[in-house]
Amino acid sequence: MNSTTLPPSGPWTLARRAARMNPSVIREILKITEKPGIISFAGGLPSSKTFPVAEFEAACTQVLENDAHAALQYAASEGYGPLREMVAARLPWDVDPAQVLITTGSQQGLDLVAKVLIDTDSRVLVETPTYLGALQAFTPMEPVIESVDSDDEGVDVADLVRKIGSGANKARFLYVLPNFQNPTGRTMTEARRATLVATAAELGLPLIEDNPYGDLWFDTPPPAPLTARNPEGGIYLGSFSKVLAPGLRLGFCVAPKAIYPKLLQAKQAADLHSPSFNQRMIAEVMKDGFLDRHIPTIRALYKGQRDAMLQALAKDMPSDVTWNTPVGGMFLWARLPEGMNAQSLLPHAVDKGVAFVPGAAFYNDHADPRALRLSFVTPNGDEIRRGVAALAAAVQEHRGRS
Ligand SMILES: Cc1ncc(COP(=O)(O)O)c(C=O)c1O
Repeated sequence: MNSTTLPPSGPWTLARRAARMNPSVIREILKITEKPGIISFAGGLPSSKTFPVAEFEAACTQVLENDAHAALQYAASEGYGPLREMVAARLPWDVDPAQVLITTGSQQGLDLVAKVLIDTDSRVLVETPTYLGALQAFTPMEPVIESVDSDDEGVDVADLVRKIGSGANKARFLYVLPNFQNPTGRTMTEARRATLVATAAELGLPLIEDNPYGDLWFDTPPPAPLTARNPEGGIYLGSFSKVLAPGLRLGFCVAPKAIYPKLLQAKQAADLHSPSFNQRMIAEVMKDGFLDRHIPTIRALYKGQRDAMLQALAKDMPSDVTWNTPVGGMFLWARLPEGMNAQSLLPHAVDKGVAFVPGAAFYNDHADPRALRLSFVTPNGDEIRRGVAALAAAVQEHRGRS
């Protein structure tokens, strides 16, 4: 038992939902990887080389010189008007800025969705595997989370139909990441998107579409978002974390009028509004089409790093290790040979100087013990080559022992 699982002493009686809160497995792993000298494929951190520091410096001065009083004051919960307009204008369907809610990271969007849509024992559907942070946001609301079978093309719609349920038992929503998914890096095909949206609309199942990586494509843009195809049928979550800077903690959600006021009320209770100063800084940086010049530089950097990882894997990995080829984003998904276990490989890999996240962390149930997530964006090309060689050696030595 560690300090996070100890029952509280003294006069405290925990709420049931607090008992369901767990430390993030990834944050625990990141603590190991912070040891000096470890090459980490574990973190989900954007490369800090992509942060536009000079632009933020100029924006900071601008905001303080021209708009300091509003930037440092309380503000509307919906968000800074010009930023909401910019968000709406960038999205590839007709979005009224009044439907945009600026959130404190898209992680807050997930928390608001959970509070507004989940009752105790509500059924909630997720992909297999899925983003761990979403499971953390949903779980305290005491849902029954069910995994829908998924393959390289995304959600298996036939399995979704089997699991939707009806009446009081009907699933409240499907949480889905169509682009360069965290953790697998996979992208949902056009055909699968079309079938999923048509089926969800027919059966009245809301889609919660999480798209923080969608701009980070390498060769061609991904197919249109799910929400673009049926805006009344879903909530779309976006983020500035992967295209500007995660430290500013800003994201957004786009919600139909039927649900927007409830998300807004949940946000008011959570934090009144996202930081006015940060919202103005981002709006200042974004004006004049900055993202259209900046995002291609991130794509080029990450594509080069993905290629470095693919080449290193092809060169060093034993032939019975498999992996996919993500066409954007930050992650690659690999699978160890039959009989091996990624969780028990991890300490050996760390001894050899490399870390990853065992894939089991991203499953609600029926975890694949052989899967691992490798991020290719934080280490540089040389570190990627050395890290993959170390990982390959750990696999060889550990083979037959897990
Ligand atoms: C799929 C997914 N959704 C949401 C988030 C949260 O991002 P943020 O709160 O920084 O916008 C992340 C962060 O890694 C993510 O991978």
